[in-house]
Amino acid sequence: MSGTTPPPPRVAVVGVNGHGRSHLQHVLDAHAAGRLRLAAVADPRLDDLPELPAGTRRHPDLGDLLAEGVPEAVVLSTPIHTHAALATAAVRAGADVLLEKPPTATAAEFTELSATVEAAGRLCQVGFQSLGSAAVDHVRRRVADGRVGEVTGYSAAGCWVRTRAYYQRARWAGHRHLDGRVVADGALTNPLAHAVATALAVAGAQRAEDVTAVETDLFHVHDIEADDTSAARVHLAGGRDLLVAVTLCAAERGEPFVVVEGTAGRITLYYTLDTVVEEVPGHPPLVTRHERTHLLTDLLAARAQGTPLRSPLADSGGFTRVLEAVVTGPAPRPVAEGFFERLELPGGDEGRRLTGVEQAVAAALRERATFSELGLPWTR
Ligand SMILES: NC(=O)c1ccc[n+]([C@@H]2O[C@H](COP(=O)([O-])OP(=O)(O)OC[C@H]3O[C@@H](n4cnc5c(N)ncnc54)[C@H](O)[C@@H]3O)[C@@H](O)[C@H]2O)c1
Repeated sequence: MSGTTPPPPRVAVVGVNGHGRSHLQHVLDAHAAGRLRLAAVADPRLDDLPELPAGTRRHPDLGDLLAEGVPEAVVLSTPIHTHAALATAAVRAGADVLLEKPPTATAAEFTELSATVEAAGRLCQVGFQSLGSAAVDHVRRRVADGRVGEVTGYSAAGCWVRTRAYYQRARWAGHRHLDGRVVADGALTNPLAHAVATALAVAGAQRAEDVTAVETDLFHVHDIEADDTSAARVHLAGGRDLLVAVTLCAAERGEPFVVVEGTAGRITLYYTLDTVVEEVPGHPPLVTRHERTHLLTDLLAARAQGTPLRSPLADSGGFTRVLEAVVTGPAPRPVAEGFFERLELPGGDEGRRLTGVEQAVAAALRERATFSELGLPWTR
């Protein structure tokens, strides 16, 4: 008896500019390889697209797309404050979803969306792509095997560069709120959100109940409402805590990382590189590199074979508690002129470097203290 191969799953990409362009490219490559079929795209701006396969539908929005036919999976890469409504519409229509991070702009939206996904019996994978890496499992295994002794704490750091053009590319960029909605576009909740989410994954503290309290210490160097230079102490059930220190006003881009500190050593995960460095006194550093599964590939495998998702919505519960604390806590404070340097960039763009911020991030991790607790002059 000859078996019939099922047709490849139909996938739609919603939000095809900005970061969505890399999703579109990935889907085009997978389409060309026959692993899926690009069924449709949706975006109010469809003027500047690469060539799409014949028959790909184009829609101005998701409602229009779903009305013309529901694909098996929808990739949502739209502004943060649109996530809850779009993901709700997609799963209610019967699609599984790869939803960009952060999954929602508020904890209330997160709770509601979780219930909707559950009731619809659909899959919702959150686009923290670092969680597709086997490096996370490796770190957890090494810690469980006692390689660093007893864990004393977790930390995460990131020193990146974002310029004025980044904040001018879209109306919502750099906002905590916009038009009466929570937007949550700060360093901890958007560009360096992976630092928080990956650290929580390494700590085995991804569920909402795993995060018991959050202290935030937020600043902005750019003329924005949200934070671009931020520290947070995240208290975890079980008594450990996670200290995070990040900036988007570094002199140059550094590799962000997550650290597990123990009584006998430490493990550092460079989460964009899938690379782990284990340091135990008396031994040479052990460097390992790991495979990464694309979260859409993982979602389609979960659909087809019932395997667990690498980044299910429920595992963003702890992250969402941090996001909620960032958005509802004290507003980011402006860093005064004189503490940062302005850089003229091509095309009228402007960079801002917070003097000594790399040392401040390092000190925050070393002392397990926020920037304000360190008493840094720009925090006063
Ligand atoms: N995982 C990552 O590494 C990563 C990196 C960058 C951004 N992101 C996330 O991707 C998402 C998009 O960020 P961005 O920086 O690309 O934003 P952006 O504003 O630059 O682009 C968003 C795109 O969505 C479109 N859009 C807006 N509203 C829409 C709607 N209602 N329906 C359909 N399309 C709509 C816009 O026209 C635009 O094409 C955010 O959640 C962001 O956090 C993830």
